[in-house]
Amino acid sequence: MNSEGTWWQDAVVYQIYPQSFNDSDGDGVGDLSGIHERLDYLDELGVDIIWLNPVYDSPHHDDGYDVRDYRSIREEYGTMADWEQLLAALHERDMRLIMDLVVNHTSDEHEWFQASRRAPDGEYGDYYVWRDGRPATDATDSPGPPDRAPPNDWEAAFGGPAWSYDDLRGQYYLHLFLEEQPDLDWTTPDVRTDVYEMMEWWLEKGIDGFRLDVINLVSKPADLSSGRGPGIEACAGGPRLEEFLAEMAAETFDNYDAVTIGEMPAVTVEQARRYTGPDGPLDMVFHFDHMTLDYDEEDGWWGLTEPSLADLKEVITRWQTELADGWNALYLGNHDQPRIVSRFGDDEQYRYESATALATLLLTLRGTPFIYQGDELSIRNYPFESLAEQEDAMTVGRVQAAIDRGEIDSFETVRELVRERTRDNARTPMQWDATANAGFTDGDPWLPVNPDYREVNAAAQQDDPRSVLAYYQRLIELRHETPALVYGEYELLLPAHESVFAYRRTLEDDRLLVVLNLDDEPSRLETLAASPRLLGNYDDPTDTTTLRPYEAVIAQDP
Ligand code: GLC
Repeated sequence: MNSEGTWWQDAVVYQIYPQSFNDSDGDGVGDLSGIHERLDYLDELGVDIIWLNPVYDSPHHDDGYDVRDYRSIREEYGTMADWEQLLAALHERDMRLIMDLVVNHTSDEHEWFQASRRAPDGEYGDYYVWRDGRPATDATDSPGPPDRAPPNDWEAAFGGPAWSYDDLRGQYYLHLFLEEQPDLDWTTPDVRTDVYEMMEWWLEKGIDGFRLDVINLVSKPADLSSGRGPGIEACAGGPRLEEFLAEMAAETFDNYDAVTIGEMPAVTVEQARRYTGPDGPLDMVFHFDHMTLDYDEEDGWWGLTEPSLADLKEVITRWQTELADGWNALYLGNHDQPRIVSRFGDDEQYRYESATALATLLLTLRGTPFIYQGDELSIRNYPFESLAEQEDAMTVGRVQAAIDRGEIDSFETVRELVRERTRDNARTPMQWDATANAGFTDGDPWLPVNPDYREVNAAAQQDDPRSVLAYYQRLIELRHETPALVYGEYELLLPAHESVFAYRRTLEDDRLLVVLNLDDEPSRLETLAASPRLLGNYDDPTDTTTLRPYEAVIAQDP
């Protein structure tokens, strides 16, 4: 649901991955007090809202997206009192806090799942998607007893079948992600009531909204007997999704001044309009269309291609224009994606220029921008050498499943691909300064710090007016002062230009040009010549018709 001029439309969001942000007690894992210690940094950057990845009690098979207890804080992160202090400190600074809501699935250690396994006829018996399975026709190496096969052929997002067999209950349960992340059965009314009560509990504690993890997967197809391929695709936008979202909104966040962003794999812009438009239950949607631009047409995640500028323009323009009566959630990277300067820019010769050009793109579109921690410093992908160095359940799971199926011989075959794809690229510790472990921890960091931290760190950039960090600060300030950058209509310019992404933002009489040379060669451009610049990532040019490599300009349109 949305109307123009709300606090969350004017806002810039900063995403914190708690495990890797700042460790206050030397155990190598970031924590809530660590975040508290760094609030000045966030204040100076100028961001308004913090989104925290899950901080709930969890066995961490999927870094907190497997929640064991929704109402308590993971021990390594601190206590509920620490969390309350953090919220109060943010509110004191007029910053808001968004929590991650993971309710498509729980941890298999959640008490609901344990009760569900033990007592099919008990209170929690139908809280998860349990099925008997099919008779196995041939000898099968699928999970479960030799004469049974899983209910269908869905694959889990992290490799292997989407069903596991539970010996205790004698049935299969569905997990679209890891085996340790059983999917809740949202058709059971008590599941929904319990989820809404929990959401209300957090809203009553004073939070300012939710980022709803894979929320478009909660309604499974009615007939599960013949599914093939990825389970996620089969469940995205399921038959009762809109009913569930509307009910959730009415029972919970509609009664509070809270913002909601639904993470939705495979969502289309038409669906997003229904979920977020003037009558939709949510405020924003995270779509994935630009996150697959470097996927190979045939091999998908397994094939790496260079993202083309034409495709990037197409995706962004489609979402900007077709969601014009809604509101976009803008992002280029997050904890599930590689580092933006490595993926879309040039992280060597033009690290500063390309990181600031991408920042300009992120912060001058219509919608609410989400900055992922460390991208404001232009942290790069990590030079991982082996699978053993990786913690990311998705990458390890997919590679292991492909090895088990004989599709690849060994990790070596996919080393280069994995280096680009692994979610651990985004999860290496934040780089605060040039001291040991980049000032992230006094202990052994849970993931290694990127070796470039002596050069790329917050302290060095805070003192340098020509740093990526300083540029982000200026850009955020400009956005805050310029309603046309937030609300203005978007119009693509020079659609066929091969290296320049240019657009106009118009709000009443205010017309701004954003021109980005997303290339490591200069580009010629006559139209910009007379425009007074508001911000750019190079000093003012002498030759106004040439954009230098990765040059970004925001200018008044005369
Ligand atoms: C979302 C999260 C991701 C997690 C997955 C399963 O995509 O962003 O980190 O692994 O959901 O919960």
